[in-house]
Amino acid sequence: KQLRLIGAPTDIGAGRRGASMGPEALRVANLQQALQQHGLNVTDGGDLSGPANPQQGPVDGFRHLEQVVAWNRSVHEAVHATLQQGQLPVLLGGDHALAIGSIAAVAQYCREQGKKLLVLWLDAHADANTNTSTPTGNIHGMPVTSLLGIGPDQLTSIGGKVPALQPDAIRQIGIRSVDREEKQHLHELGLRVYDMRHIDEHGMRVTMEQALSGIDADTHLHVSFDIDFLDPAVAPGVGTAVPGGPTYRETQLCMEMIADTGRLASLDVMELNPACDVRNQTAELVVELVESLFGKSTLIR
Ligand code: ARG
Ligand code: MN
Ligand code: MN
Ligand code: MN
Repeated sequence: KQLRLIGAPTDIGAGRRGASMGPEALRVANLQQALQQHGLNVTDGGDLSGPANPQQGPVDGFRHLEQVVAWNRSVHEAVHATLQQGQLPVLLGGDHALAIGSIAAVAQYCREQGKKLLVLWLDAHADANTNTSTPTGNIHGMPVTSLLGIGPDQLTSIGGKVPALQPDAIRQIGIRSVDREEKQHLHELGLRVYDMRHIDEHGMRVTMEQALSGIDADTHLHVSFDIDFLDPAVAPGVGTAVPGGPTYRETQLCMEMIADTGRLASLDVMELNPACDVRNQTAELVVELVESLFGKSTLIR
């Protein structure tokens, strides 16, 4: 399998600037070289380009809607083309609003190939706001609703079909920060949420067994990894840190259990914010975790 790194250096959907430096921080932490050491074939496709961050306030409950749409179109095109070439796209964010274009492309590809899609959404946040429920106007808090067909056409129709996804195709893990009205959406949509309480009560192992259940040879597994999933004590380099997240060990197990399915077929690595990091330690941690996600193991060769 050939992996292709796709940099999307923008923070257009976030409230705090800095995620635009994420792709370069991962390159500095030797992401490509680390994966190649495990015998993976990895191409760095370089960075996409798009509009600059105008640093404006929300209009109608959306900050930078036009620019978010432009970036997502370009992400959609790059991810879809990569899949069509038989490569595994690894999107290097950039903020999590770009998961709209990435997952819309994956969903489109799965329709074309007659594959089942399962999205694992690893995040402290549910990212299921709308322009009326959002406390901030930041579109990185809205990708899940957009993918489920709720929101303006420009965001919901990027992959052609609206909605791009059905709620039962998404499983959210690590959630611990949900806005008041956003909580209502989770219930209305019937999203499967394995929140931190669930992980506390059942442990990461059982949680992942549940979240990965039903995967078969026909499943395309997509992981949308928001780095703020991790506890900020180990991963300070994010713009919207929430205490009380999974530890280093729990996250390693999560990654290893995903690798064990053998079905990982596309990946987003989002919200790494080098402006908030300490000597690139979060980028280095992410490289280790992504190695596990692609099968690095202590004992298995
Ligand atoms: N729920 C908050 C909001 O809507 C935070 C969202 C954070 N999202 C993220 N992808 N980091 O603004
Ligand atoms: Mn988040
Ligand atoms: Mn439970
Ligand atoms: Mn997120």
